[in-house]
Amino acid sequence: MLEDLRQKYDTLKSLNLAIDLTRGKPHADQLDLSNELLHGEVDFIGENDIDLRNYGEPIGIIEARKLGAELLDSKLELTMAGEQSSYLLMTQMILGRFLLGLEGREQPWRKEEEIAFLCTVPGFDRHFATLDGFGIKMLTLNLCEDGIDLQHLQERLQENNNIKGIICVPRHSNPSGEVFTDQNIASFLELTKAYNPNFINLFDHAYLIHDFAKTLKQTPIPLLAQQIGALDNIAVFTSFSKVTFGGGGLSFLTTGPDNFAMLQQVRNMMVICPDKINQKRHVNFLQNKENIQIHMQKHATLIKPKFDLVVDKLKRLPKTCGTFTEPTGGYFVTYYASKPVAKRIVELCKGAGLLLTPAGSTFPYGNDPNDAVLRIAPTYIDLQQLELAMDIFTVAAQIADIEI
Ligand SMILES: Cc1ncc(COP(=O)(O)O)c(C=O)c1O
Repeated sequence: MLEDLRQKYDTLKSLNLAIDLTRGKPHADQLDLSNELLHGEVDFIGENDIDLRNYGEPIGIIEARKLGAELLDSKLELTMAGEQSSYLLMTQMILGRFLLGLEGREQPWRKEEEIAFLCTVPGFDRHFATLDGFGIKMLTLNLCEDGIDLQHLQERLQENNNIKGIICVPRHSNPSGEVFTDQNIASFLELTKAYNPNFINLFDHAYLIHDFAKTLKQTPIPLLAQQIGALDNIAVFTSFSKVTFGGGGLSFLTTGPDNFAMLQQVRNMMVICPDKINQKRHVNFLQNKENIQIHMQKHATLIKPKFDLVVDKLKRLPKTCGTFTEPTGGYFVTYYASKPVAKRIVELCKGAGLLLTPAGSTFPYGNDPNDAVLRIAPTYIDLQQLELAMDIFTVAAQIADIEI
């Protein structure tokens, strides 16, 4: 058996492949869907007679903010349209609470000896990099089918008195694909608000409109938060990075009035205004939520076969090797090895010309306690390469499972 697998491995290795499955990036055919953005004139006088070529509108042009509010189901006056990165807005939010605090409510976090954040796991490595950069202690928070494992959350809150917030991806969680239920979100909003009235739940809605198969409908988070008086306990972020151009779209945020004012203040320290021409260009191109949904359906058609292929290949693995997710949207499939072999799989794959995200990267401090979780990002490469990549992956997963 092992001999057979080694032979297959050597055959794949002899192809001298160089395939990169490390990051969830759109394929060029997805980018082509938005090529219209590269052409065409933009009327530089915006709504309200604003000259878009000049400084001004620090929280975004009104047309873009309206589009953001439509997408997030948020109040226009609490919706910001930023630069091209929601990750940047999220970092600015954390920076603001760190440097400035919440006026009349909470002192800046920098004044406290040690503060902590709950990070859902498996999670997004860049979230961990940001929190770690601020010296914020990261505590893992388990996910379950419904969203956050509430039992685990309660334990964490009981054990620690310095937790300032949660960071999570509530739809098609990166990388394990959970879609949080309304009940789950409402429950943890209530629990965390009772723990600390200034608790901040950072909802990274990077995959808000990225379904490629039937997916649970969610009540918009601002509405849920409003119902339980917790608007200032949420901040919801999204962007067009995986709608139009990676790193070249628009970002949006909504939060409660106190956090919104704080964020405006912190942004004033670093940016005069976003690129309003790009905002206008996007508004012209995408127009409204309905049109965006039609556009996203085109993405879905392009990426669904890739996810089907990955899942199909993983299904052929012996069941004892591990389990895997079957997402209905987003950008990742997660593989859970039964034995502590994730690092070994990555090493074997690399040896055969396939780059995977490093084992451990889906956990704070790179520490996967079971060395079991691997993230597969299938969108960036074409189907033919993906097939070879999954052949390498599945052979490597079997060899690693037998070797140990
Ligand atoms: C969960 C999550 N958040 C944020 C981002 C980046 O978003 P943006 O390009 O808007 O900064 C990504 C991209 O991979 C992501 O997976």
